[in-house]
Amino acid sequence: MIFETHAHYDDEAFDEDRYTLLESMTDHGIGTIVNATASRRTVEKSLELAHKYPFVYTTIGVHPSDSAEMDEEELSWLEEMCGDEKAVAVGEIGLDYHYDEPSKEIQKKWFEAQIELARKVKLPIIVHSRDAAKDTMDIMKNLHAEEIGGDIHCFSYSVEVAREYLNMGFYIGVGGVITFKNGRKLREVVEYAPIEQIVIETDSPYLSPEPFRGKRNSSLNLPYVVDKIAEIKGLTPEEVIAVTENNARKLYNL
Ligand code: NI
Repeated sequence: MIFETHAHYDDEAFDEDRYTLLESMTDHGIGTIVNATASRRTVEKSLELAHKYPFVYTTIGVHPSDSAEMDEEELSWLEEMCGDEKAVAVGEIGLDYHYDEPSKEIQKKWFEAQIELARKVKLPIIVHSRDAAKDTMDIMKNLHAEEIGGDIHCFSYSVEVAREYLNMGFYIGVGGVITFKNGRKLREVVEYAPIEQIVIETDSPYLSPEPFRGKRNSSLNLPYVVDKIAEIKGLTPEEVIAVTENNARKLYNL
């Protein structure tokens, strides 16, 4: 069954129908969902969902855009939450230089601290990196993130950058962008990357694939991503679903 490696069902976009939507997933072929967190508030909500549904797991971490308020107390709290039986990764952590705030220094500090947290609690990292290719790679190389492993979620860089992460053993997270008209860069990455290192994700409620671009996304749209990967790789959709599920289980140790 389809393994959704990254969604945000704690988001207010799902306030109206969160539970009915999640309860419909199995009937639509979505077997497992990892809910990704971005802040203390979302970690709390995500743990609630993971405890309610056997097929939902959660990451634990603070997103770079939410790192301004972070402090040592919060880092210890995150460590404690990583001990939860439904916690499967530290994330999403990383760097986002798309906006000027928080400053690069703050973002780097908490990215590094959370990589070290992952090492300590022995969980993989889910990396968010936007407009920050070089700094992200430098930090991950300096801290030997290849010893920890994980996934570069919503991969948005070139084949050259992908090659380095693939050589470090990381998985590449592929979502709706692959169906976009301007998604050529990602399609090239998917063509290049071994299927054994690709995992699928929606980043719901964001990044709906075509033909729903701009609308609220959910894991129910993953077949559009699967079909596109199948087309590029010359595989059947069933093969893509089976291999990426296997990859995701390895990624999250499930
Ligand atoms: Ni996300």
